Amino acid sequence: MSNYHIKHLEEYFQVYRKSVRNPEAFWEEIAEEHFLWRKKWDKVLSWDFSKPEVTWFEGAQLNITENCIDRHLATRGEKTAIIFEPNNPEEEAQHISYYQLHDKVCRMANVLKEKGIQKGDRVCVYLPMIPELAVTILACARIGAIHSVVFAGFSSNALATRINDSDCKIVITSDGSYRGNKSIDLKGIVDKALEECPGVAHVLVAKRTKSTIEMKNGRDEWLQPLLDAAYGDCVPEIMDAEDPLFILYTSGSTGRPKGMVHTTGGYMVYTAYTFKNVFQYRENDVYWCTADIGWITGHSYIVYGPLANGATTVMFEGVPSYPDFGRFWEVIEKHKVNQFYTAPTAIRALAKQNLEFVENHDLSSLKVLGSVGEPINEEAWHWYNNNVGKKKSPIVDTWWQTETGGIMITPIPYVTPTTPTYATLPFIGIQPALMDEEGHEIMGNQVEGRLCIKFPWPSMARTIWGDHDRYRDTYFTAYKNNYFTGDGALRDAVGYYRITGRVDDVIIVSGHNLGTAPIEDAINEHPAVAESAIVGFPHDVKGNALYGYVILKETGETRDRDNLRNEINQQITEHIGPIAKLDKIQFVSGLPKTRSGKIMRRILRKIASNDVSNLGDTSTLLNPEVVQEIIDNVV
Ligand code: WTA
Repeated sequence: MSNYHIKHLEEYFQVYRKSVRNPEAFWEEIAEEHFLWRKKWDKVLSWDFSKPEVTWFEGAQLNITENCIDRHLATRGEKTAIIFEPNNPEEEAQHISYYQLHDKVCRMANVLKEKGIQKGDRVCVYLPMIPELAVTILACARIGAIHSVVFAGFSSNALATRINDSDCKIVITSDGSYRGNKSIDLKGIVDKALEECPGVAHVLVAKRTKSTIEMKNGRDEWLQPLLDAAYGDCVPEIMDAEDPLFILYTSGSTGRPKGMVHTTGGYMVYTAYTFKNVFQYRENDVYWCTADIGWITGHSYIVYGPLANGATTVMFEGVPSYPDFGRFWEVIEKHKVNQFYTAPTAIRALAKQNLEFVENHDLSSLKVLGSVGEPINEEAWHWYNNNVGKKKSPIVDTWWQTETGGIMITPIPYVTPTTPTYATLPFIGIQPALMDEEGHEIMGNQVEGRLCIKFPWPSMARTIWGDHDRYRDTYFTAYKNNYFTGDGALRDAVGYYRITGRVDDVIIVSGHNLGTAPIEDAINEHPAVAESAIVGFPHDVKGNALYGYVILKETGETRDRDNLRNEINQQITEHIGPIAKLDKIQFVSGLPKTRSGKIMRRILRKIASNDVSNLGDTSTLLNPEVVQEIIDNVV
């Protein structure tokens, strides 16, 4: 009996129990029956959260691209693996079959090898959502190189930090990228970044916008001629299950981004298994996730999960508002999309538009709707359900993280009854726990606490690149023998989970994780700024927006405030990227601090959210007088 595809609620409970009672036997069966291994494992799982050390399928050997491509060739060679939908709807979509994908990936793999890239080397990928992006990461996996994709909206500074953190030897990029009616000079950003990156010997450039760019002699080469000349087959490198597959950076509570390291075997098994069930994918369905491959959602649920299941996955280059606000719905109609996976911020933006944008399109192909990246509010949930799903496509509100690799808490469509704003039940094999502030597990239902996971799952990150201590301190120290997620959650009367939001210094803006520390660091580098503090406040489209409190140096006091605000946002754009710009900036004479000098962000958050009725006791602050001043001058 196969537990691979869950079809009704009783079966979910039964399989869930099995996965928790005997995780090793459970995952062994899934891994054995549904994947191609060159050698089987010696041991399914070893773990010790105190170190932390986790290994899945130790001793096993495989190549993930054989699972995502080669094994489908006999039965699905002509099937479309990737549908590429360009930014401009007048440009023709591309259908890339599994055969063609094999050829493209092998050529790219051979190009990388020619450039001296070997197993274990790090490859930085800074590309827009064009087929080369998926092809490049698969090519890395083919030869055992570790890909590090940097979202192509990050600035040159952010790119340089990430390239240097993991010592990437090569960067794959494009001349430019399209976003709606704008084009962005990606190569210029790379050139600037590389002034700070002495370790990068090669830059391969895909042609997309055909804009004029500079090519540095001896370093930069156009990608296409190299691909044309390369051989269309490449023997896959045989990897250990625990060899790193990729690094992906996420924000943390210090200025330095955390390079989360994901390994091969467990990541493959878990992303494939969740994809199959969370989207109820059936052969010949067309699946579309609107995320960018620069984020974990794109890694796991545009590339690896779908392809491991032999699915057809859509890659969309554009934005929801171009050429008009009906673009998502037009693409669904055009490609007869069956599963559609997007973010609440997109839904909220589209819900503000005229309903005709949705109603003008035939969405009858849809079977499952997904949501990811931030809490979905009730209004957005209903709009999505009524107008896109027409009340017949279940919404899967999927909670997970870069660190978890795959979806952790989610309904299974047509199986788990959904409740708006609830991610509902843990996926198979996932053991959540809610903790109180003293570190004790809160048992029973109708409770609220900090969300932890108490048992390992196959796709969890294994470390932070180059800083295992930080990995331990960030995730495994606050709650002994538990992985701490950084999120708060409640469990209702029937045991459904609802994620209430971050309880740390990460703020989710339009579904993007932003750490307060890197933004504050960027602001503080402005010559007129002495100190700053960033908090989030509710925003009807972005979920949260950023509010900055800034103390000026004496030299800044005489400057025009609006100019300063622009310069501060410019500073953030240069250091991180436009996604981290502040919506509001208030200049203050001081920040409320505890006697030990810690900024009381709780108070600042309340003021920014216009909720000053109950600030709590402020008399113990070092500088209580500053609170009233801040309230009086709120922006
Ligand atoms: C938040 C994205 C509520 C959460 C896959 C988490 C969510 C962070 C949901 C991870 C959801 C993600 N409901 N909140 N369905 N999904 N989050 O690493 O705060 O970009 O910790 O991974 O997004 O963001 P990340």
